[in-house]
Order: sequence, then structure tokens, then C-alpha cells
Amino acid sequence: MFRQSVLSVLLAFPVLAEPEIRYGRDIRPILSDKCFFCHGPDAKTREEDLRLDIREEAIAGKAFIPGNPEKSRMIKLINATDEDDIMPPPSSHKVLSSKEKQLLADWIKAGAVYEPHWAFSVPKREAGQDIDSIVARDLAATGIFARGGSGDFVAAYALRRDRATSLSGASGGISERTCARSPRGGGACGR
Ligand code: HEC
Repeated sequence: MFRQSVLSVLLAFPVLAEPEIRYGRDIRPILSDKCFFCHGPDAKTREEDLRLDIREEAIAGKAFIPGNPEKSRMIKLINATDEDDIMPPPSSHKVLSSKEKQLLADWIKAGAVYEPHWAFSVPKREAGQDIDSIVARDLAATGIFARGGSGDFVAAYALRRDRATSLSGASGGISERTCARSPRGGGACGR
């Protein structure tokens, strides 16, 4: 019985073999340490009017082309050898490790997906709350109910639920009651 359920999990998630790159966990810490001082939210220290913390602005500023690291300015510059071109500038005393450079290139290759900040914040659990109530509360706070179509909502729900389960220590078990309300419907509740 135990073995059978392990097997069905493995079959359901073949991608687990190669861990995906996640913005909040893998990429944002790099950009935040090494790039945001000059290409982040603070207009006072921003250079070139280039923001890397907002996907649309990074693309509009031609920092990268999603799916194409070879043609991406940002990847060329972090690997540049000419002192005048290297990002971060040597004068900033910030240096990227080769692992960090590789992660940035792989992330762009995979489409340069950002996660909104609420998606990687640590969910807080109040006494007596089951995990679906936590997720519903957090999503309500983002306003995503009002904005997106139902596809956006389901994707956001799945992302948030995944994060809540892995970080908060809340039980992933879904009660019958929340099952009926869950936008993921039978898929999440079939077991
Ligand atoms: C200390 C400030 C500073 C930091 C930190 C910094 N940059 Fe820059 N960045 C600049 C400046 C200044 C320019 C304009 C350079 C120029 O045009 O010669 C620039 C320009 C750029 C450009 C546009 C270049 C072009 O020609 O269009 C990209 C892309 C870029 N930086 C990426 C990054 C990345 C990625 C990081 C982090 C790994 C980073 N930068 C960190 C100061 C910084």
C-alpha cells in the first residue's frame, strides 16, 4: 500500500527528477544581493533607469529575452571580460559566482518566470485554520480574485498552496469540507 502510493506520486511528478528553478528561492536572492541596488525599486540609487525586479520593465529595458539567454544582454554582461562592461560593475565589489551565473542563464532559458512577492512569503497559520483557508485568505489579500480570469486563479491557488504546505508546516490534508470548496476541484481531492 505504502509502496504503491510512492509509485503513483513519482509517476504523477516526473519533473521532480530535475528540480525546477524558482524565482523566489533561487533567483530573487541573487538579483537582490547583486543587482537591485542599481536596478531595483529605489529610484535614488537606480542606474540606467533599468529595473530588474519587475519582469515587464526588465524586458522593455532589453535586459533579457525570455527563453534566449544567448541573446540576453544581462547574460552577456555578467559573463563579460571587459572591465567596462561587467555587471555588477567591479567598482561595486559585488561578484557573481559561476553557479549564480548559470542559474540566471537557466532561469532565462526556462522563460524568466517571476513569482509575485506574496507567492514566496511565508504563510502564517492561525490556530484552527486548515491549509485551504490560509491559501484563500492570502489570495484574497492579493486582489487576485478580482483581477484574473479563473485560469489565473487556479494557477495562483496551486502555487500558494504548494508554498503554504512546504513552509508553514501546516498539514497538507484536505478536509471534505474544503474539498468541496476547492477551486482545484476533484483533482486535489481524488485521494
Ligand atoms: C553599482 C551599480 C550596479 C549594479 C550593482 C549592477 N549594475 Fe547593471 N548597470 C549599472 C550601470 C551604471 C549601467 C550602465 C552602464 C553603461 O551603459 O555603460 C548598467 C547597465 C546594465 C544593463 C544594461 C546594459 C545595456 O547596455 O543596455 C544591464 C542588462 C545590467 N546593467 C544588468 C545588471 C545585472 C544583471 C546586475 C546584477 C548581476 C547588475 N546590472 C548590477 C550599474 C549597476
